[in-house]
Formats: sequence, structure tokens, C-alpha cells
Amino acid sequence: MIILKITIIGSGFVGATAAHILALKNIVDEIVLIDILEGVPQGKALDMTQSSAIENFKTKIIGTNSYEATKNSDIIIITAGIARKPGMTRDELLQTNVKIVSSVVKQAVQYSPESILIVVSNPLDAMVYTAYKTSGFPRYRVIGMAGILDTARYKTLIADRLNIDAAKIDCFVIGSHGDTMIALPRLTKADGKQLDKLLTKTEIDEIVSKTKNGGAEIVGLLKTGSAYYAPASSIVEMITAIVNDTGKVLPCCVFLNGEYGIKNIFVGVPVILGKEGLKEIVEIELNDEELLLLNNAADAVRELSGLVDCFLADEK
Ligand code: APR
Repeated sequence: MIILKITIIGSGFVGATAAHILALKNIVDEIVLIDILEGVPQGKALDMTQSSAIENFKTKIIGTNSYEATKNSDIIIITAGIARKPGMTRDELLQTNVKIVSSVVKQAVQYSPESILIVVSNPLDAMVYTAYKTSGFPRYRVIGMAGILDTARYKTLIADRLNIDAAKIDCFVIGSHGDTMIALPRLTKADGKQLDKLLTKTEIDEIVSKTKNGGAEIVGLLKTGSAYYAPASSIVEMITAIVNDTGKVLPCCVFLNGEYGIKNIFVGVPVILGKEGLKEIVEIELNDEELLLLNNAADAVRELSGLVDCFLADEK
């Protein structure tokens, strides 16, 4: 019997919520939650397991501090990292999370050399690159979660504004998971109609800007910590696409190799995921202005990835 096993590294808000949503879906055999904090993954796994007596799912959930228990995972989700602390510069945060992500990836891939890595830790684009460099995995097995979340935020804002079901909105948010995030209003359809036929430019600009600010708005409200429900749902969407080979087109952060005229950098674009990981990069037709924005996003990520290279070289 083939066992479908998912490891989630980092059993904090995002990791644990993703584990529970995934368990409720009952589509995998085993979830391993791992963390450096002793007792936390074990306690959360036990709590979730007890919910199975009510929710009736069969997925086994294990909490551990040891990578041995993650052996032969099909997919590894990386949510480990720290949030920016007061007084910490962006570069200091980057350096700390490069250390954490590279260390967890090194340990995890030893036990699961054929796994697919899904990176969630922030700053996302730089952390996917860190996992790619550290693992030595081919590009189709290292994917970042960002676009699904950003697109969900964009859809929610449009749905609220037009008072329609978010499921009736067709759109993608691409680019980076940061300042160079790109919503594509020209290609956005609500209930089959082009968005610019339904809303004014000012209204669309406001939605696009709120989308970019979506994560920061939640951080501002929570005061400590950042979003985790929608990020967790986005992770589960990716896992579902992989294990069920759904063929659904999803925006994800992947390593471009000439697609969109961009090479050797991770950027968010629409893709199809499948059993092997990244199955196909979907090249939607972008106009010159949109292509320029995508190139700007790639340049911003390239700059951060350069810093990652320096930090990784220092570690050696
Ligand atoms: N090994 C394993 N786990 C680690 C390590 C490590 N080296 N370092 C930190 N962790 C764990 C922490 O102990 C914590 O339980 O990662 C977990 C992170 O959880 P939270 O602090 O609750 O953060 P969360 O809200 O889950 O966000 C995780 O996802 O969306 C991104 O920006 C977010 O980078 C952040 C990540």
C-alpha cells in the first residue's frame, strides 16, 4: 500500500492550522508535525487526533522533534522561521530565516530525498530560493506558497465590493510576495465580465493596493503574529492539487527558466501542480506594461537572492 505522507516543519500558527485543515480533508495517510519546541508538535498532534473522533477523519497525525520521523515524506511544508522583532532590520530577519530554513531543509531532505518542498516562511521569495539552493533539488520539486494567498485576498476584496461569490471571480496575482506583487486587473473577470467594466479605475486601484497591504493589515490588527487561516488554506490547496493531480491552474512561486523571458529566479506565475511537483508553467499573455512589472518583481527577488547567496556562503 502506498502511504501518502506530509511533513510540516514549524508547528506554529500556520503549520498547525494547515495540518488540521488537511486532516479534515482526509486526503493523506499521515501528517508529521515537527518543531524545535519540545512538546508543542506532540501536544498539537494529540489534540488534532482527538478531533478525529468527532470529525471522522482517518489521517494519522504525529508530533515530533526528530527528523527521523519525517522519513519518506512525499511533501514537506516549511513554515519554520521567526517574525521580525522590534529593532531588527529586514536584512537581519532575512539572515536569521536563511539560517533556519537552510538548517531545516538540510535535515529534512536527508530523510526524504525524493520529496516536494513547499516553502511558506517569509520573506517568501528569498526563502524558496534558500530551500532550492540548500536542497539541490530540481526546480520542479521546490515551490513557494504566495500567489494563492494573494489571489484569495484580491478575490475577497472584489467579491465584497461587487457583492458576488468569490468563486465567480477569475484572476491571478503574480510577481513577488512583497512590494512588487502584481494583481492583473486587465485579466480579471467577475461573473464573466471584465473588471474594468464593473468598477472605476479608482475603485480598482484601491482594491489592488489593499491586496498588496493584505498581510500587513492583519499584522496591524493582531499586533503579535501574522495571518494564518488563509495561508493554511493556501497550503492545503497546493497539497490537494499535487496529491489529486487536479490540473487546476494556481499561482505559485517557481524557478523560471526562460518562461516570460525571465531566467534563473523564483517569481510567482500561474502553474499546474501534479504528482511530481511543478508540472507546467502557464504562460498567460501579458501586455508590455504587465511584463515590465513582472521583470521588476524578478529584479527585486534577484537582489534578495543575492543576499541569500552571501549568507549561505558565510555559513559554509
Ligand atoms: N526548526 C523547527 N521549527 C522552528 C525552527 C527550527 N529551526 N525555528 C523556528 N521554528 C518554529 C517555531 O518554534 C514556531 O513554532 O517555527 C514556528 C513558527 O510558527 P509561528 O511563530 O507561529 O509563525 P507562523 O504564524 O506559523 O508563521 C510561520 O509562515 O506565513 C509565514 O511569515 C510567516 O515566516 C512565517 C511563517
